[in-house]
Formats: sequence, structure tokens, C-alpha cells
Amino acid sequence: MHKKRVLITGITGQDGYYLTKLLAEKNYEIYGLVRRSSHNPFARFDNDISLWKKINVIYGNMRDVESIRRALDVSRPDEIYNLAALSDVGVSFQCPAETMEINYHGLGKLITEAQQMFPKARLYQASTSEMFGRTNPPQSENSVFLPVSPYAEAKLRAHQDYIRGYREKYDFFACSGILFNHESPKRGENFVTRKVTLSLAKIKLGLQDHLELGNIDSKRDWGFAGDYVEAMWAILQKEKPDDFVISTGKNHTVRDFVNTAARHLDMKLTWEGEKENEVAKDKDSKVVVKINPKFYRPNEVHNLLGDSSKAKKVLGWEPKTSFDELVKMMVGSDVEYVKSLKNISK
Ligand code: GDD
Repeated sequence: MHKKRVLITGITGQDGYYLTKLLAEKNYEIYGLVRRSSHNPFARFDNDISLWKKINVIYGNMRDVESIRRALDVSRPDEIYNLAALSDVGVSFQCPAETMEINYHGLGKLITEAQQMFPKARLYQASTSEMFGRTNPPQSENSVFLPVSPYAEAKLRAHQDYIRGYREKYDFFACSGILFNHESPKRGENFVTRKVTLSLAKIKLGLQDHLELGNIDSKRDWGFAGDYVEAMWAILQKEKPDDFVISTGKNHTVRDFVNTAARHLDMKLTWEGEKENEVAKDKDSKVVVKINPKFYRPNEVHNLLGDSSKAKKVLGWEPKTSFDELVKMMVGSDVEYVKSLKNISK
């Protein structure tokens, strides 16, 4: 039987890790476009060397069309997953041009080449709930898009011009997964969930004094990345290309996330004060969380809550991991990680 071939951009990120794991189990031949870096780009695969060895690495990046062409030529993909992006919404305000270059023009280069070289290939685009921006919840495939950050604007243009555009103009099998926030122990430390679980684990084990956050009242629909990559795959297996919202249908504030993580560390937090002066104290009245306006965004998305009933109906996809299980998993993993840091420093 033909072994399916897949090209994954952004393979070294959180979703790249979980998708590689899933597709390796499904016996795909895996190719990854990897940006050269002085850091180890495969740090997320450190505890899973046998998985990492399954990746055929092609060095290149989303700015460099030659490298994209080479990656397509070498991988001859049946399926392409475009996970490469500048994915930090806060950072995108500081570098809107670079964000547009990678998140919009990058997909343009990839899909143009892919459609010409492999017109029968199927392409998955990592679209995002950030595209809904200020639209009232719950947000579904029928909701309007009101992006409020350079990140979301670039992702929305990519979705409209290249995913919908190529589907309509060229009959190319291009799909968007409109994924709401998805987290895991592999999440980057700059995103709020991992920042919280890592910092609270360090505070608990005496390696950090306190945690500083920005807007703790914003609400997110947080799911587990391991569940969400199954939806990515399912989207490309349908007869017809289409776009799907992927979410849990439940949301929480950042403050709830902090409280839940603290509870899993046996820390009971009490909040007092308002706005910039709000703090959370532990049972000994020591300040554990402070607000630092440095982490406020110039423009905020206040309330994301997805309605993924279409994915349930058409793909048979549903999230398996609850909010509490997700937070517990991340806290548990960070406690082990921080203990290993303590052993190193002994
Ligand atoms: N990162 C960060 N750091 N966010 C903070 C902090 C902080 O110190 N304090 C409060 N927040 C708030 C942000 O203002 C935002 O409202 C919320 O926490 C979540 O921020 P992030 O975890 O950075 O995620 P995001 O929602 O902006 O974007 C993520 O999810 C999108 C899907 O909805 C990213 O993964 C995007 O790439 C993805 O598209």
C-alpha cells in the first residue's frame, strides 16, 4: 500500500510535535521544513529521540521560496500542514511587517508552489480563533471576523486570499482549521498558560519569588494540543475541502487558570486590590502574583468561546481532555521539570 507522505512546516513547535507523533503512529513518511538556528530546534523532541529520528529534515524557511520548492520536491507530499508562523500575538504588535511576511506571504509562497507542483496534494492551514477578535461569543464558522492584532490580520488575509481563494479559483484542496487556544506541557513559555504553570511550579519549589501577568480578565477557550492535532488530520481526510472551528465550547479567565494551577500545587490564592494593584497572596500572605502593565497588549481580544458543533457532526471530532485535566497535566510536567533544574543547580 502507498505510504502517505507529509510535509509539515513549523514541525519543531508544540503542534508540530503532537502532529508528528500522530502521523508517525499512522505510518506516514514525515518531512519537516526546519529553520536553522543556533539553539536546538528539536528541544521538544528531547524525550522522544526515536520520534525525532523519523523526521526527514529539510532546512529552509517561509521567507525563502527556493527552500519551499526544495521541500516540496524532496517530500512529494500527499498532505501539507502549514504550522509555521509567528504565533505570539503580543509580539506581533512590535513587528507587524515580519508577521505579515511569515503568516501571510509565507503561506502564499507555499500554496502557489504546491498547487503548481502537486495539484492533487491537500493543504491544512493553521488558522486561528484570533481572527474573530471582537466578535461576540460563541464563535463558529458563520461568525464575522473582526481581527484586532497584526497577527490576526495576517492570518485572516491568509485564510481569505489563499485558503478560500485557492479552493475557489483552482479547486485546490486547501482547508483552514480555525483552532481556539490549545496548550500542553510542550507549550512555549511566552504563552500565558505555560508561563503560569512554570512560574507557579518554580515559586512552589523555591526557584522564583513571584509571577507577573498582564490582563487576567480575558477569557479563552483552552483545549489540549494533543486532541487538536487529531482534528487537523481529520479535516484533510474528508472528501471535500472545508473550514472547521476546533474548540472545547467552555472558556475561563486567565485568573481562573492561575487559581486552578495553584490548586494543583496545593497553593490557595486570595486576590485583593484592583486593576494594576491587584495581587494574589498565598496562605502566609506572601504575594505570589502581581499585575505588570508591561504585559498588557495595545489591543486585546477579551472573550473567545468556540462552537465546534460542525466539527463534531462532520468530522466526528470532540475534545477528550477537560480544562482541569489540561491544567493538571501542565502543572505536573512543570513540577518534574523544575525538580530537574534544582538537581542540576545542586
Ligand atoms: N502571553 C501572555 N503573557 N499573555 C498574558 C499575560 C502574559 O504575561 N498576562 C495576561 N495575558 C493574557 C493575554 O493578554 C491574552 O488575553 C491571554 O492571556 C492569552 O494570551 P496567550 O497565551 O499569549 O495566547 P493568545 O490567546 O494571545 O494566542 C494564542 O492562541 C491563539 C488561538 O486563539 C496563540 O497560540 C496564537 O498563536 C493562537 O492563534
